[in-house]
Amino acid sequence: MDQIGARELAGRLERFPRCRLAHTPTPLEQMPRLSAHLSCVELFVKRDDCTGLGFGGNKVRQLEFYFGQAQQAGADTVLITGAVQSNFVRATAAAACRLGMACHIQLEERVPDVDGLYRSSGNVLLNQVFGATLHSYPQGEDEAGADARLGVIAEQLRQSGSRPYIIPLGPGHDPLGALGYVDAATELTGQLEQRGVQFDHIVVTSGSGATHAGLLFGLRALGNRTIVIGVCPRRDADRQRRRIAAHAQKLSRMLDVDPRITAEEIRLTDVTLAPGYGRLNAATIEALQTTARCEGLLLDPVYTAKAMAGLFHMAREGELSGRVLFWHTGGEPALFGYGRAVLARD
Ligand SMILES: Cc1ncc(COP(=O)(O)O)c(C=O)c1O
Repeated sequence: MDQIGARELAGRLERFPRCRLAHTPTPLEQMPRLSAHLSCVELFVKRDDCTGLGFGGNKVRQLEFYFGQAQQAGADTVLITGAVQSNFVRATAAAACRLGMACHIQLEERVPDVDGLYRSSGNVLLNQVFGATLHSYPQGEDEAGADARLGVIAEQLRQSGSRPYIIPLGPGHDPLGALGYVDAATELTGQLEQRGVQFDHIVVTSGSGATHAGLLFGLRALGNRTIVIGVCPRRDADRQRRRIAAHAQKLSRMLDVDPRITAEEIRLTDVTLAPGYGRLNAATIEALQTTARCEGLLLDPVYTAKAMAGLFHMAREGELSGRVLFWHTGGEPALFGYGRAVLARD
């Protein structure tokens, strides 16, 4: 198995152009009251909701590498596609402002039966505050089609004199954003060394898989064997496992190190996915409210509350023990887009 030191890994990341956007290192905190509530695990949280730019979140770490490439290519406009309440597109709009670039956002109809708040508040409102140009796409599960449509908009922009750069959605591209989480793995191992702590499990949302794959890859490349469990907010565990494996293979090539991640090591649960992407269930609402009320910590309805609901489930089933790190990936602005749905249990 290939393993390298933190300094060597940092050196390989430096081969990729990067724009510093995130406030790092993010805090690593204990969650004593939530631990007492669950009574079987000692919980910690990695606060990537605190990465700073435009309400923060995991996507800020990922965007450092996309914007690095965009700037190296001389782009003046960035294009991205995502769900109507996507945090990724909102963070992109914020980064474009920071770097003096224009931003075109394509919003996909990925969630059925939504209300007016979903279409106007939360991330949608912030996209407009950041001055992004909004487009809409009628499908929500057609990644290739959504990317192709961005290509058409980019061509129109090119013809009118802009220099566009597309942040792609589909899995057929190099997972540049995952490099942000290879770097985050180095950051975490440094924090653990400083404090003399080790974790038995890390629980993280696994959407496009860039966060999960980057983190798992980075930890294994550094020789850290902590079990990483991805919670699926978008697709079932089998499909997601293939996606993470593909990302890991590409990361091996990009970083020229192969930690040989096996299928068994790509741990996933889709126990809180139903009824589907961006749609709440009772366990997710319970996790969101309990975390807020025990720790004063806000989760988002689409990703992190589903991940916390997965953590609650695994803890109650005896699948987690000892020290557990919940990796908070942000997303709080979406709370406002989901309005009263998050209070449905009160
Ligand atoms: C708040 C939040 N958490 C997690 C994720 C999933 O991250 P990834 O796409 O890297 O799997 C997203 C994706 O948009 C997100 O917005």
